[in-house]
Amino acid sequence: MKELKILAVVVFLTAVVYIGVEPYAHTKLHPAVTPADFQFQDLEASTKVGDAARGAETFMMAGCVGCHGLESQGMPFSMDNQMASESFGVVPPDLSSAGYLYDEAFLAALIKNPAKALMVEHKFSDTNPHPMTSFYGLGGDLDQEVADIVAYLKSIAPTSMTNAEVFDDACLRCHGIKYDGGKKMTTEADAILAYMGTIPPDLSTMIRARGHGFLETFINNPQKHLEGTSMPRVGLKQETQLQVVDYMESIGDGKKAERERVGLYIMGYFVILSIFAYLWKAKVWREV
Ligand code: HEC
Ligand code: HEC
Repeated sequence: MKELKILAVVVFLTAVVYIGVEPYAHTKLHPAVTPADFQFQDLEASTKVGDAARGAETFMMAGCVGCHGLESQGMPFSMDNQMASESFGVVPPDLSSAGYLYDEAFLAALIKNPAKALMVEHKFSDTNPHPMTSFYGLGGDLDQEVADIVAYLKSIAPTSMTNAEVFDDACLRCHGIKYDGGKKMTTEADAILAYMGTIPPDLSTMIRARGHGFLETFINNPQKHLEGTSMPRVGLKQETQLQVVDYMESIGDGKKAERERVGLYIMGYFVILSIFAYLWKAKVWREV
């Protein structure tokens, strides 16, 4: 009877911690946020259908290559990383893969108003403009011209990329990931500090600190978790964002699959051990 009472107390205390305290602590440490929005509904949707051939010309005339390379089309960026860092605060990404990485609606909105699409309007103003200038059009229908540029970027984009390549094109200008062979961010530290107000953290072990769910919603909209942060929304499509998170997991938690497998072996071992222990106990008690 005494054992049963002790058991009841233990069960009660465990239940209080598990059902009451743990979920409460969890909501404080990881406040619930709305799911990632891969439709980018806060941005104005365009109804225009782009034309890639026309877009190739519009792209050149819009001056994108003044700040971005287009390596795959034989137009590497003319500045080295140090000079680009000093000029823009961050090394502008090569656009060869932009059509693969980013959502179409996001790209269109970005070209028209970068600070808005990147959700960093709170950091910039007319006197302190975002380093990527808005495209105001070449005199024709602005939305059509933008749709053409997006169609062009999509037409030249690769059809598949490795997870590491996606990370490099989407994040490496601001974040190093040193556990992957010492990969360092491409922007110079002083420049990015001046631009962002902080040095973006190395992401080698971020998957362990934050986990999948947090990263899913964070990359899609950093403001949801860190209001006022200078990290821009990155505008990745659902698939490419998943590639980034998978890559971070492979670097920061590469032993996960192995750990899970070993866990199963150990559980099997205990099951078998329990059976033998039970049989042995039964045998001993039969004799007594
Ligand atoms: C005056 C320089 C400048 C011009 C002109 C410019 N950009 Fe940019 N662009 C930048 C900079 C700087 C960044 C990086 C901003 C950041 O990460 O905070 C950027 C970022 C981008 C990104 C990455 C967005 C993301 O989600 O990470 C894309 C895509 C892009 N630009 C496309 C274009 C296109 C298309 C054009 C032409 C219509 C263009 N840019 C014109 C400077 C420029
Ligand atoms: C233009 C620069 C820039 C780009 C591009 C960028 N980040 Fe960041 N990131 C930052 C800055 C700055 C911070 C620090 C934010 C702060 O402390 O407010 C940050 C913070 C983070 C954090 C830490 C959040 C936390 O809870 O502390 C994660 C995770 C992260 N970034 C992931 C990414 C991933 C993944 C990508 C690519 C898909 C990316 N970032 C692209 C600038 C950037």
